[in-house]
Amino acid sequence: MKKPISLMLLTGILAVAFVSDWTEPQFIKDNFSFADKQLRKMLIVADRSDTLFPRTIDKFGKLQLTNKYEWTSGFFPGNLWYAYEATGNDTLKNEAVKWTEKLEALKDFTEHHDLGFMLYCSYGNAYRLTGNEKYKTVLVRAARSLSTRFSPKTGSIKSWNTFKSWDGRKEYSYPVIIDNMMNLELLFFASKATGDPYYKNIAIEHALNTMKNQLRKDYSCFHVVCYDSTTGKVLAKETAQGYANNSTWARGQSWGIYGFTMTYRETGDKRFLDVAKKMADYYINNPELPVDKVPYWDFNANDSGYMPSQASYAKETPVKYRDASAAAVTASALLELSTYLGGNGKKYREVAITILHSLSSSAYRARIGENGNFILKHSVGSIAHGAEIDVPLVYADYYFLEALNRYRLLLDHKDPVTHF
Ligand code: GLY
Repeated sequence: MKKPISLMLLTGILAVAFVSDWTEPQFIKDNFSFADKQLRKMLIVADRSDTLFPRTIDKFGKLQLTNKYEWTSGFFPGNLWYAYEATGNDTLKNEAVKWTEKLEALKDFTEHHDLGFMLYCSYGNAYRLTGNEKYKTVLVRAARSLSTRFSPKTGSIKSWNTFKSWDGRKEYSYPVIIDNMMNLELLFFASKATGDPYYKNIAIEHALNTMKNQLRKDYSCFHVVCYDSTTGKVLAKETAQGYANNSTWARGQSWGIYGFTMTYRETGDKRFLDVAKKMADYYINNPELPVDKVPYWDFNANDSGYMPSQASYAKETPVKYRDASAAAVTASALLELSTYLGGNGKKYREVAITILHSLSSSAYRARIGENGNFILKHSVGSIAHGAEIDVPLVYADYYFLEALNRYRLLLDHKDPVTHF
């Protein structure tokens, strides 16, 4: 990071000191006005590549794009939808439609679990904001594709087709990662859209098994749980993107907070609310959480008692990088969670607001035309793989914009999420 950490912390504290309910609508508006400008600049560059989707930048600051089968393809269309929602700008809407519809073929994709991210963030927002029935049809078909990865033996949706331990000794064929909680939203949607409870039922079973097998006693989580596909037995609990097998990868914790909050919304089952709250407590009460509430990339990075494998780049990374993407996901989740907890929700909402102000400060928010035209700086893709370290990431921007939209709705005394 270019700025000294102490200066970043100070920026966060100062930003939060000026929060008050009458300045907040302007704060949100300013952020969307900035997002609108960055997205338009991004569109000029991204449009040159018809079939690829913005994800990050390389070390020279050049935009890096991916094909539509990567888990991040739906976020750029999603960013356009959120910016359109907040600004009402029709250019953004037309672009959002165009970029969303490039993903239609994914409705039959079954090679990994991330259809929820890819299509709910794109087509889900498209349907929510336009009511166009053709988008609903794509979402339902995608849910059917995702459901092919569910096995009654494991009671879970298989995340990846294989997972190799960092120590190289084992390869597993039924890995489930905590991120998978996010993909359940597509399944809940499909049951509501079709009246068929199957999608919702498998989502609940998956969430219950995640609760049972993926969480530790302190409500931190393992990143990867590997099952035996014939017996359903848990074979291993490891990490792919975290510091060590027994550590808590920050974005994984954020996916859990968000995923269980959403699962409570969709089921009304208090067990999920309890887990969401306790996972959030782990995050917000963690002594390792900096005062600006933007976490280090792993809550246990470089701590004694946590040992990365020899093959993991985490071993060679002495810097404790921040992960703005984990903070953005958490902010969005906490804003929703806060609405389910009565008077106890206040502290979760306050942490979310602190995060939003930290991310909007110059410590994290880019200047116009910089940062490959992404909004936020300082995210981490996978230090373990030596990839995307201290860079912008399209999904950090997505959850930042989502959280700002949720905050705007809360300030208007509205529900921060849409109930279909
Ligand atoms: N879902 C992959 C990640 O969070 O990096």
